[in-house]
Parts: sequence; structure tokens; C-alpha cells
Amino acid sequence: MKNKITINYLLNKKINNEKLTKEEVFSFVDMSCNKQIKDYQISTMLNAIFFNGMSFDETYWLTIAMKNSGFTLKTIPRTIDKHSTGGVGDKVTLILTPLLACFDIPVFKMSGRGLGFTGGTIDKLESIGVNTSISLEKAREIFDKNKMVVIEQSSNLTPADKIFYALRNDTETVMSIPLIVSSIMSKKLALGSKHIYLDIKIGDGALFKNKKSAEEFSKICIQIGKKEKVSVICHFTNMNQPLGNAVGNKIEIIESLNFLKGNCDSKNLKELIYIMLSDILIDFKKSKSYSESKTKIDKMIKSLKPYNKFIDWANDQGSKLTNEDFSNLKLNAKNKKVITSSKSGYFKILSSLMIGQAVFDLGGGRINKDSSIDYDAGILLLKENGDIVKKGTPIIEVYSNSEITDGILKNIKESFIITSKKVRKEKIVLGEVR
Ligand code: URA
Repeated sequence: MKNKITINYLLNKKINNEKLTKEEVFSFVDMSCNKQIKDYQISTMLNAIFFNGMSFDETYWLTIAMKNSGFTLKTIPRTIDKHSTGGVGDKVTLILTPLLACFDIPVFKMSGRGLGFTGGTIDKLESIGVNTSISLEKAREIFDKNKMVVIEQSSNLTPADKIFYALRNDTETVMSIPLIVSSIMSKKLALGSKHIYLDIKIGDGALFKNKKSAEEFSKICIQIGKKEKVSVICHFTNMNQPLGNAVGNKIEIIESLNFLKGNCDSKNLKELIYIMLSDILIDFKKSKSYSESKTKIDKMIKSLKPYNKFIDWANDQGSKLTNEDFSNLKLNAKNKKVITSSKSGYFKILSSLMIGQAVFDLGGGRINKDSSIDYDAGILLLKENGDIVKKGTPIIEVYSNSEITDGILKNIKESFIITSKKVRKEKIVLGEVR
């Protein structure tokens, strides 16, 4: 008779940097989900993976075991899934999804909540009453009608990821490439999409601080995709400055709706959306070049179809806001402060992480998964990297329902400089691999 695999045996192996077999990786995931082992034993394994890493095969098996830990959805043809590794002011899903749906490229998307300094699409949507905690049947109904749906990770889908992610978050073991790959790819594969677009953010306000680690991550995701017959397309994008002008929850919805109405003040946000969308249109043979895509995207936005699509979908998914409410959407924060420029020169963000952190301190982020959020808290950047500012001009607006303390303002002021040296505008899309 075969010996039963025990957690102590597995821990011993991984702590000693030995490779786990497929059967051993599957057993670990199984024991974790069936509550046969304690959280501290799971954390010890996650720690051992954090320090010793995993081979490609181990990472692949971990991904598949996590995918199979819950329900998996049948592939819906031509549906795409898009995932960002997380950043500050990242509202790409809110803008790209209705645009894709209007180009007849359906999106079935599972999103997350914000934790720490990075925001989460689910929190942003909840600020306008969209309910993402819905059954898979309801999600399918909304998807069939709107060609788009955004759901929260439910306990039925990749429960192993829910368990591991919470423990990684509590034990500072998030930043491990095999753990990030398995977390993201297991969720993508469980949803059944054959076309996965990964927006891999690089910079101080992102999980990946440099291109090397982002490239390592992308290679493994693409290789897993190949094994699973799924196309994985990775864009590397710059997170050295927040994406767009708004950082927060409702404030990002307002910026997204403005974008969909054709009013986009942010060059970096526009560039990213246009490049990602153009690549997808070309992949789906709806355009032959970037310039053709640009004409099509401009025309589509002008038609207001994506804007109306967002509202119809939001209403189908529980938002009670009327068309008029959407067009007059405003922050209702009790407190507002404006930071003006102390001198003339060029504006440059030094740290998007500090801006994300400031929004968190203003009440816009959650300390743990059960804490509540101030949806009106946020920061509006009136300038982007490289813009010329004059002494005394408003450069940042700060909103919150709680007190905007001198400490928070000081931190925001330290997140940028006004310099006499010309600031080079950085590229937003740093590369693409597939
Ligand atoms: N996003 C995820 O879904 N998982 C990770 O591990 C990191 C970012």
C-alpha cells in the first residue's frame, strides 16, 4: 500500500529546497482546502515557497490544483479575460470592458478588492451600487445580455487562492513569482477564457518593481497558457506615476465615465487604453493597424455606445443610479483641500506608492477584508509628469469624509517635486510579449 503524504513530509521537503512531485503539490492544495491542515502549516509552506521558489513544473501543478479546487466554467467562445497585476489609479477594466463589449468582444471578468495601497475594481464598482457578489447563473444572464460581466471571487471559484492569498497577505509573502503566477493563472483558467490579456505593471506603485521580475512572471504565465492551449498576451506598463488623474473609488468611476464620454484629460491613461484595445482589435481581426484601430476607437467613443453600455450593465448588475445620476456623478466628500505649486517648473511624480498610500490614509482603502471604505475619499492630480506649472497654480485636489490631516498633506507633497529641469515623459507601454 502507498504511504499517505503528510504535511510534515511536504514541509520538510520544501524547506530543504527539494522539488515536490505533481501528486505532492495536489495533496498540499487538497489538504489546505479540506481543512486537514492548520493555517500555520499552510503559511509555513507558502514561506518555504517564498524563500526557495518553485520549478516550472511545480508552479504549473500548483496552478492547476488551485484551478481545480472549485468550480470551473465552460469556455464561452471568443470571450476574453483581462487582468492587471495591480497599481495606483488603475481603472483600465472600467473603461476597456464596455469598449470591448461594444466591439463585440465579450468579457467575463473576475476582479478583486483593494488591499493595502492598491485599489480594487470591486470597491470602485460598489461605490455606485454595482453588486459583484452574484451567483454564476446570474453572472451568465448579465453576460449574455450585455457581453460583459464583472464578478467578485466567490468561494466556489478557486477557493485555494482565497485561502493562500489571505495568508500571504498576512505573512508578507505576496511577492513570490510562483505564488503570484498560480494565484492569477488559476483564476483565469477557472473562468475558461481562451484569450488572456495580462497588464503587468512595473514601478514603485506596482507589485513588480523592475522589468526583470515582470519578464520572469510573464514567461511562466505564457508557458502555462501554452500547456493549457490558452493564448496569454502580456503588456508591460509603467506604474511610476498613477494611471490617469484620479486615485480612489468613486473618483475613478467619474474619470472612467468621462473617458467613455470622450473627455479624457490624462495622456497616460488614453495611451494605455488605446494601445491595449488596439492590440486586442488586431488579434480579433477587427483592425489591421494601430492607426485603423485609433479611428475605430475614436468613432466608437463618439457614438456614446460604450458609455451607455456601462450604464445599462451597471443597472443590470444592481446599481440604482439613473442616467441623470450617472451624468451628474460627483464626490460628496465633506472635506476638500487643494495643494498649489510652491514654485514654477516641471511637475514630476516621485512615488505613486505614496499617493496610493495617501488615498488609503484618507479612508479610501481597507485595512483588512472586512473594514469599510470611504468611497468619496480620493486624490485628483491636475498635472502629469512633464507638465509645466506656475507658482501658485492648483496641482492636486484631496477629498475625504474624515479630517484631511497635515500629516497626510505632507506625505502627498513629498510624492512629487517641481523641478527646473525638463522632465522627460516616460512611455506608458514598455513592451509586449506573447
Ligand atoms: N493579484 C492576484 O490575484 N494574486 C496575486 O498573487 C497578486 C496579485
